[in-house]
Amino acid sequence: MNKLLTQEEYWDSVAGEKEFTTPFQMELFKKVVPKEARILDVGCGYGRTLHELYLSEFTNLSGIDISKKMIDKGTKLYPQLTLKKYDDSRLPFENNSLDAVILLAVLTCIISNKEQEKLIDEIERVLKDDGVLYINDFLINSDQRNIDRYKRHEVKYNKYGIFELSEGVVLRHYTKMRIDELMGNFEKIIFESVIYTTMNGNKSNGLYYIGRKRKKIIQI
Ligand SMILES: C[S@@+](CC[C@H](N)C(=O)[O-])C[C@H]1O[C@@H](n2cnc3c(N)ncnc32)[C@H](O)[C@@H]1O
Repeated sequence: MNKLLTQEEYWDSVAGEKEFTTPFQMELFKKVVPKEARILDVGCGYGRTLHELYLSEFTNLSGIDISKKMIDKGTKLYPQLTLKKYDDSRLPFENNSLDAVILLAVLTCIISNKEQEKLIDEIERVLKDDGVLYINDFLINSDQRNIDRYKRHEVKYNKYGIFELSEGVVLRHYTKMRIDELMGNFEKIIFESVIYTTMNGNKSNGLYYIGRKRKKIIQI
């Protein structure tokens, strides 16, 4: 087991080698987000999904990620994209300024409930009313390899579904209930369970979710 790295250190260390393959539901996305919409990919990695959106003629795209190496790789691969590193937990966008946010395999990197809630609150802040949030991520599995590693780490992390990879990173698989809880302020359009191939070539339960930010009712 390598020493545990921070998320930023880990994703920097693997930026040259990892390929992400969880598919993006483009046809569904097109039904709810127009081509000229202002779209942000949070935790965009090397920008593969933004590139797909670009090829599908979406015109107002940007991506941010905590890993500078991922951003550098994406900038080289897809120079037409606007990708930026960010450090802060505050998203560098104004309130109510974006039409859609995508968040693909990022929640799996955030093991703390509080940190997940902070990120979703931030996404809600930057989305316009009725703005769309598209998520994909990994769900709890019931095969023996996963059960063993969830159990091995349950005492340390006080939660079932968290595990360390020998490469030096801690990740989390989610219950559907936790995803529903996190999306409490969004109106669900779709929540589908699927099987994904992970970046290490294993099969895992997963989900994709599309929801709309609910309009806040101001009491006067
Ligand atoms: C599994 S990769 C997925 C990359 C990309 N979303 C994709 O699907 O191709 C996870 C990415 O999330 C980034 N990340 C991890 N924690 C983050 C956070 N709190 N905020 C933004 N990005 C984060 C990592 O640097 C990494 O690039």
